[in-house]
Amino acid sequence: MSLKHVTDEAGDSLMLLEVDGFLFAPDLSADVVKGLGQFPFRDDDVMVCSYPKSGCHWVWEILRMLQEGTLDVAVQEKEDLMMEWKTPEFMDKFPSPRVLNTHVLLRHLNPELFEKKIKIIMVVRNPKDVAVSFYHHHKKLVEYEYNGQFTNYVPNYLDGKVDSGCVFDYTRDWEKEIDEHPEHPILLLCYEDMKENLFREVKKIANFLGKSFEDVFYQKIADKCTFSKMRDRKGAVHTEWGDNIFYRKGEVGDWKNWFTVAHSEMCDRICEEKMSGSKIIFRYTLDNNTETNNNDGGS
Ligand code: A3P
Repeated sequence: MSLKHVTDEAGDSLMLLEVDGFLFAPDLSADVVKGLGQFPFRDDDVMVCSYPKSGCHWVWEILRMLQEGTLDVAVQEKEDLMMEWKTPEFMDKFPSPRVLNTHVLLRHLNPELFEKKIKIIMVVRNPKDVAVSFYHHHKKLVEYEYNGQFTNYVPNYLDGKVDSGCVFDYTRDWEKEIDEHPEHPILLLCYEDMKENLFREVKKIANFLGKSFEDVFYQKIADKCTFSKMRDRKGAVHTEWGDNIFYRKGEVGDWKNWFTVAHSEMCDRICEEKMSGSKIIFRYTLDNNTETNNNDGGS
């Protein structure tokens, strides 16, 4: 386990923590990471898993409202219940039902989660928008010490030289678990589907949790969890990390403002190769006409 500088094509370096060959944010504790395999789950925990910048904060907020059955959840950030970030003792302070979250792989986690039938919601987002979002994350958070240009960042990102490794490897690893163990309670959600119709996706999550509310409640959650409402409500929680780093733009297709044609094609090539056999179809654009926040778009 060590801190390492990963250098991009122009010589700018990103500081990361490596533990047993996997890359983490540099300010994580290696002891907490190594303890993940013994994490004491509660029977009623649920968990959001995602590659970084895929919409984890968004789903976490929705899950809290569904789990608590109210829109009036405390203003809190998911980092309090992020498994590789906080100690189990710290997280034990929070009452049930807890909504845990993580960016690690299944092999890092305590296998007891399947005996306890912990429900897992996995969120995926198209890898080009993730790249742009992750780039801003790496530039803004001082602990990464990164000051590079996006054009030099892309090859390293595609090569997995970032926290949580390669986006495709991460996604395939989780997807294989879902395919090989259909008995495990794992729901796969797509960021772009949520942008397309949040009401529909909120209801889908509720069904997965075995909850049943009136449609009006799902609609209220969808209304309260739009990008602008969440940014206004929660964007200031992490002021010491800069303004709204977790609520930057919240769009599908921002990658077109950042990727060169060559890098876009490189991403497509690597995606085709690494995602071979996958059932996940990444959506890189959304027709504005299809974007809706309410149940008129079909449920
Ligand atoms: P951008 O940087 O593209 O804006 P995570 O929570 O996994 O770190 O993901 C962060 C990304 O999700 C950021 O993307 C952020 O703006 C976006 N996001 C957060 N809340 C959102 C919401 N309510 N609706 C849409 N996108 C949201």
